[in-house]
Amino acid sequence: MVVAMDEYGPDTYGEFIAAHYDERYPGVQPSMIDRLAEIGGAGPVLELGIGTGRVAIPLADRGVEVHGLDASPPMVEKMKAKPGGGDIPVAIRNMEDLGGLGPFRMVYVVANTFFAMLDQDTQVRAFGSVASVLEPDGSFVMEAFVPDVSRFDRNQRVEVVSIDTDEVAIDVAMYDPRDQTVMASNMVFGPDKQRQFPVKLRFSYPSELDLMARLAGMSLVERWGGWDREPYTGVGIHVSTWRPIGEESR
Ligand SMILES: C[S@@+](CC[C@H](N)C(=O)[O-])C[C@H]1O[C@@H](n2cnc3c(N)ncnc32)[C@H](O)[C@@H]1O
Repeated sequence: MVVAMDEYGPDTYGEFIAAHYDERYPGVQPSMIDRLAEIGGAGPVLELGIGTGRVAIPLADRGVEVHGLDASPPMVEKMKAKPGGGDIPVAIRNMEDLGGLGPFRMVYVVANTFFAMLDQDTQVRAFGSVASVLEPDGSFVMEAFVPDVSRFDRNQRVEVVSIDTDEVAIDVAMYDPRDQTVMASNMVFGPDKQRQFPVKLRFSYPSELDLMARLAGMSLVERWGGWDREPYTGVGIHVSTWRPIGEESR
């Protein structure tokens, strides 16, 4: 499959990776499920970009009422084929517009998936859309990387992932500082195979996300450096929770 980068759309990531996602990203950190279950309670909760159910299925196994949406039918088909996956209601739709859904006790988005919305305006609108489907004291929880542009040299990066006798894997990326977008691909080469897993994203800094939350009438209540409630240090990842600002605090 070949995709010109200007043809990259919401379902492109899943088209390429659905058949390989679970072997590339096996399992889930138990403390992620612990924290989501604590914040989401009995639910209902909504996962944006539910994918193959890596997070949603163990969360539902805890008794949380989980709903999901995703732009990629092949990713969702993988989830539906797993034990418990068929019981989770999923809408095939773009996460930037949640009209008609909810209300939810928690909306969550993990694994940098919020950055799949490729411009600032769309991300701002998405915060508004999340706020509109939350219960008045509901929570919006996000796990994402903290941007670090020092990773790029002249706005590019090439990294060797692995070298074996019959397989070499590399990551290639180009960064556009004008709009904070990154076009990247993981490339796997062997005697009989060549595979590529393209991904495009538009990253936001945590401070920028807080401003988007404010514009949507929410404020930050918690920011950790990981799911074990590690202190947030400004590097690595962040796990952030925003809640609607009550009328009395506006
Ligand atoms: C990195 S995967 C994460 C899947 C799952 N949340 C997990 O943690 O394993 C990102 C998911 O978001 C979906 N996605 C990407 N852009 C989307 C969009 N604009 N609207 C809805 N889903 C989208 C992809 O199809 C994919 O399933």
